[in-house]
Amino acid sequence: MPTAEIAPRVEMPMIGLGTWSLKDPYHSVRTALDVGYRHIDTAEQYGNEDLIGRAIADSGLPREDVFITTKILSRDVDRVDDIISASLAALRTDYVDLWLIHDPPPPGLSERLWGSLIRLREAGFARAIGVSEYGTSQIDAIIASSGVTPAVNQVRWAPALFDPVRLRDTTARGIRLEGFSGLRLADLDDLALVAPAQRRGVTPAQILLRWHIDHGVVAIPRTDSDRRIEENLDVWGFELDEDERRAIDALSTVRVAARACGPGCSLVGRVGTVVAPTGVPTGPGEIAVEGQLPLIAWSSELIAVGSIARIVGCRSSRSVDVVPEPRTDAEAQP
Ligand SMILES: NC(=O)c1ccc[n+]([C@@H]2O[C@H](COP(=O)([O-])OP(=O)(O)OC[C@H]3O[C@@H](n4cnc5c(N)ncnc54)[C@H](OP(=O)(O)O)[C@@H]3O)[C@@H](O)[C@H]2O)c1
Repeated sequence: MPTAEIAPRVEMPMIGLGTWSLKDPYHSVRTALDVGYRHIDTAEQYGNEDLIGRAIADSGLPREDVFITTKILSRDVDRVDDIISASLAALRTDYVDLWLIHDPPPPGLSERLWGSLIRLREAGFARAIGVSEYGTSQIDAIIASSGVTPAVNQVRWAPALFDPVRLRDTTARGIRLEGFSGLRLADLDDLALVAPAQRRGVTPAQILLRWHIDHGVVAIPRTDSDRRIEENLDVWGFELDEDERRAIDALSTVRVAARACGPGCSLVGRVGTVVAPTGVPTGPGEIAVEGQLPLIAWSSELIAVGSIARIVGCRSSRSVDVVPEPRTDAEAQP
């Protein structure tokens, strides 16, 4: 199984089993470990650490062969020691491989909770530590306060949420992006997933998971079905070509905005949209987005919205860094 090195000598398998709301976590984890999974994602909040700990112990696999992630909620900032003891006891282990802050606490508390995670790693209770659903500025704040960079940011990640800027900024900081809810949030009937699946005799879900892998994003699909547990791990015998990958990228609805020519001149569009060179100025220096074209249609003739956009047909022509609009990080997640 391909892995990502998220910290010195800490290898994270690129696919793991998500366990939130599984009907029978013990059975699903046993099945997953039997068919080759070596990565299980849980959280104190899921209330299943005990069943998962028992399933891992009963599998007979050496502890060091299974990568375990668990998470602590921001509301537990004052109960970290109790939560750590309870999670480790339930999971029947002395350490987890990755401990995440489950949800971003408010500024100030975030730095405090991050400090607690650093101490728990130093005490040997976690081999690596990270965060979940953090925006880039929230990550920069905890790095600035501690000098310690999270190993992983676990975020909602699906074609509609594809955000090349976030991927680039995360990677640039040496942080691994891990995607959750990709299957739940995807339209598995979309032609961008169905067509490559038909060409290879695989399922759209497998194409979706392969798309994660091809972007270097760790995936943690959840399913109650034994058959799908196997299916979701069987994504190593093929890869997407660039056009196929870009067609899936182009399903993104993440909005991005950029300053083009200076104050008052902005370009607003969706990732995957292209502004024609004939873009109609809608105000001082503004250019309207003209329809949606697949990323494969990008060319130097067109103004592309992505991590770097080329602005033409404006007062000046130059490359700009396209930044996402402020995210609504407040979306409550399990
Ligand atoms: N950090 C966070 O805040 C956070 C938030 C949410 C989730 N997570 C983690 O991420 C994991 C995954 O996210 P998720 O549970 O929200 O959803 P998900 O894995 O994206 O989707 C699960 C849904 O997809 C279906 N499914 C699974 N495999 C399939 C396949 N091969 N073909 C078609 N449908 C398939 C499942 O149905 P069946 O069961 O019927 O197969 C289930 O309804 C969670 O379990 C949890 O571990 C973390």
